[in-house]
Amino acid sequence: MRISARAEKIEPFYVMEVAKAASALAREVAATDRPMIFLNIGEPDFTAPPLVQEAAVRAVRAGATQYTQATGLELLRERISGWYGQRFGVDVPARRIVITAGASAALQLACLALIDAGDEILLPDPSYPCNRHFVTAADGRAVLIPTTAAERFQLTADKVEAAWTDKTRGVLLASPSNPTGTSIPPDELRRIHEVVSKRGGITLIDEIYLGLSYDDQFSQTALAIDDQVISINSFSKYFNMTGWRLGWLVVPDALVPAVERLAQNLFICASTIAQYAALACFEADSLTEYERRRAEFKARRDWFIPQLNALGLDVPVVPDGAFYAWADCTSFARKLGIEGSWDFAFELMKRAHVAVTPGRDFGIADPERFVRFSTASSMAHLEEAVARLKSLAG
Ligand SMILES: Cc1ncc(COP(=O)(O)O)c(C=O)c1O
Repeated sequence: MRISARAEKIEPFYVMEVAKAASALAREVAATDRPMIFLNIGEPDFTAPPLVQEAAVRAVRAGATQYTQATGLELLRERISGWYGQRFGVDVPARRIVITAGASAALQLACLALIDAGDEILLPDPSYPCNRHFVTAADGRAVLIPTTAAERFQLTADKVEAAWTDKTRGVLLASPSNPTGTSIPPDELRRIHEVVSKRGGITLIDEIYLGLSYDDQFSQTALAIDDQVISINSFSKYFNMTGWRLGWLVVPDALVPAVERLAQNLFICASTIAQYAALACFEADSLTEYERRRAEFKARRDWFIPQLNALGLDVPVVPDGAFYAWADCTSFARKLGIEGSWDFAFELMKRAHVAVTPGRDFGIADPERFVRFSTASSMAHLEEAVARLKSLAG
């Protein structure tokens, strides 16, 4: 069967190979004194809080399960608008918010609405692999720009300017980032947006981890800069609702009709049950619980990063958000006679029963140097993982 050139261009998600191997080994070692510890997980270890669960059950029982309008429940758009006001002091009118099936659908809608065949989009290397694949799926060309620790593994205005060609359509950023957990400093973000706007381009920013920010200097939405910025967000991470498949997109007024047309045709709407449930995310009790969980993620980061550094798994930039640590495994791996993060991840899994994600998925510039640890795991698991790493290092 002839597969489309577009589909052939999408690379596999290598992370899944690691996850598959980890799950297989986990079954074998489950009953031993060293069961598998999964530090490769990209989703919170918390589930939706009680009010959200109850709201979902109520929606099902009440039969509130028909399609909603393509842009989502009016009330949910208003609640999200209210959240931007309360949490970030930014006025984001509900009419510019489109509810989607996760950030993934939001990214697809944004790419399909804005990218024509051959358009180039600039992204940082390393970055979340699906983001460049959304560009490819829209027949665009994702241009990965290598970044450094000094740049917090993010694009800078200078680099955007230098990489801009007559084919460039814009940038796709993520702040805080997966896999590094680092954000773009607000002044730099403003400069990037200026460079992009001056050339008639678009600034797309994936803010899925914005709610999980631990440093005030970074915890502001890019929507505060300009209402022309396009922001992608989700209920997956801060709101702990990965499998509910719910997110949103904030677009300039002029883009709403095109995004709405695409959403009507491609998705009809996001899950109605999830939308009714998500209304309860903004109740006071839920917000208190989310903030407690954010503090827990921060406490894990504060404990875990120094431990990795002490082990020689150097984390060059302290993550200011999300639940990841991007660690240079070169010297630790060499001590074990291993070269490269891919083999290191598999050896760590076999010898210590600790699963981590190698750099390969996240970019092409320096993938063998780094591994991603996730702290979306209990403190007890993190402590045990560190103990095993210590004994491995000898
Ligand atoms: C940076 C980033 N963007 C988007 C997504 C997709 O999230 P969602 O579950 O909202 O589709 C993820 C998931 O891990 C992510 O890390």
